[in-house]
Amino acid sequence: MEPLPVIFDCDPGKDDSLALFVALALPHVIDVLGITTVAGNVPVEHSSHNARRIVEAAGRHDIPVYPGCARPLLRHAVTAVDVHGTDGMGGSGLPDAEHPVEDFHAVEALAGFLEEASTPLTIAAIGPLTNIALLISLRPDLVPAIGQLVVMGGARKGGNVTRNAEFNIFADPHAARIVLAGKVPATIVPLDVTRRILPPQEWFDAMEGYGEPGRAVAAMWRESPVALHDVTVTGLLAWPELYSLEACSVDVVWNDTGTLGRTVFSGEDGPLSVVKRVDQRRLADRVVEAMETYVASP
Ligand code: BDR
Ligand code: CA
Repeated sequence: MEPLPVIFDCDPGKDDSLALFVALALPHVIDVLGITTVAGNVPVEHSSHNARRIVEAAGRHDIPVYPGCARPLLRHAVTAVDVHGTDGMGGSGLPDAEHPVEDFHAVEALAGFLEEASTPLTIAAIGPLTNIALLISLRPDLVPAIGQLVVMGGARKGGNVTRNAEFNIFADPHAARIVLAGKVPATIVPLDVTRRILPPQEWFDAMEGYGEPGRAVAAMWRESPVALHDVTVTGLLAWPELYSLEACSVDVVWNDTGTLGRTVFSGEDGPLSVVKRVDQRRLADRVVEAMETYVASP
């Protein structure tokens, strides 16, 4: 089978970095065409810089990085520097990037990839959905070229940034409402699935031996652990047999301050899919196996 062509739209971000390191370690399964960045966990200058540090540490100098939207569509920017550190990859020890930043805006780059694609592309969206909302608003003609959009975001119950909302959706609820309206074939990996995936201590001990990417991951998680949210998207692309899904519709609350960013799931015959369950243990094992690829790197 040919590897799946994928663009990652992200806001690295500790867990974004693991999602990217794992994807970049599996070129026979996932063909990362490019990385687009967005403001989210940190301002977009930092998320772009981190994406460049990540491809460099992974030895993948062939991957272009395109900086995207610096603020949400309508609301003021919120960050998660308390979780990810002020530079977004707190404690990683990765050097500043020499990898260039591309001259094209992320939204233009996404449109360009979709225009040129000979087969439908997958977009893995692991940050706020600002770039994706602009893409589908500006270029609805390109929606059929999106084979699937896999989104880490939302929650069937609860939240992590407020009692009602998950960070990626809360950070740009208006964009999320546009993207998850049902016109784009999206699969959602919600917080109530990802927040349970907290790796054990041995996991980090193993990471220490896996080159610069492994050491960076171990150091970041030792500084302050986060759940394996975003790598759950990479996992769904690489190992779908570990996941069970159901059809759904999603309504995103955008006009009520108290519940802003809440995702209301309904409809067993809706146009979207949501992950119900993931085999956490096997996912954590596969992530470690993928990272082992970096064992021979500096
Ligand atoms: C999501 O929010 C961010 O802080 C993480 O990178 C992840 O994408 C989890 O709610
Ligand atoms: Ca993220």
